[in-house]
Amino acid sequence: MDQKDKTPEKNAPSKSEESTVIPMEDNKADKNKIKKEAVKTDESDTEKGENNSKQQNMKSKNNQTDLGKFFLDALQDIYYAEAKIEESLAKIKHKATSEELQEALEDHELVTKKQILRLEKIFKHLGEEAKKKKCDAIDGILKEVDEMVKNTEDGSMTRDVAIIIGSQKVEHYEIATYGGLVQIAITLGHEKVADLLETTLDEEEETDFLLTEIAEEHVNFDAAEE
Ligand SMILES: [Fe+2]
Ligand SMILES: [Fe+2]
Repeated sequence: MDQKDKTPEKNAPSKSEESTVIPMEDNKADKNKIKKEAVKTDESDTEKGENNSKQQNMKSKNNQTDLGKFFLDALQDIYYAEAKIEESLAKIKHKATSEELQEALEDHELVTKKQILRLEKIFKHLGEEAKKKKCDAIDGILKEVDEMVKNTEDGSMTRDVAIIIGSQKVEHYEIATYGGLVQIAITLGHEKVADLLETTLDEEEETDFLLTEIAEEHVNFDAAEE
């Protein structure tokens, strides 16, 4: 089953959308826009002034508040995780049996390199040094991916099934992280940072979707016949 279809709020049409079919990605982009616009427009003129000064205040206190510190900490955590993911993709792409999966992993390795540079841009934008903080979660997931691959036969489609499931565990970890970070960035008034994080979030979701497609279109069936 397509994992995206399992998330009800992503597919549930709003009242104005009920009669029109909107492609899922457009729908999502619209919702994100609405979410951000709600932050911008859900204010009376007086409230707007108050909120602007609140935002300024938050910016000047950047990383001094508990939430600001938490945000920075989480960015250092995902910066470490992305570096580990890049290393893992560089190894694992050679282990895939089907060409389609090899290509998807190679593409995601390049995307991951860009995401690392994007995180460095974010640290710079926040006036912070790009630092890594050890992330036990990603170390654990990647260790499990390695073991799953080792336990399958070289050149088999079952190995591709293992690589896809392992990679999707990684993608879901990233989606959860970036999804939360986008919202915290908006709360802290870091609009530009929120946009950058959202670009990465979209890339992770696209990769997850592509992996599901590869599995459902042929890899699972080919593995079932081994
Ligand atoms: Fe990533
Ligand atoms: Fe990813």
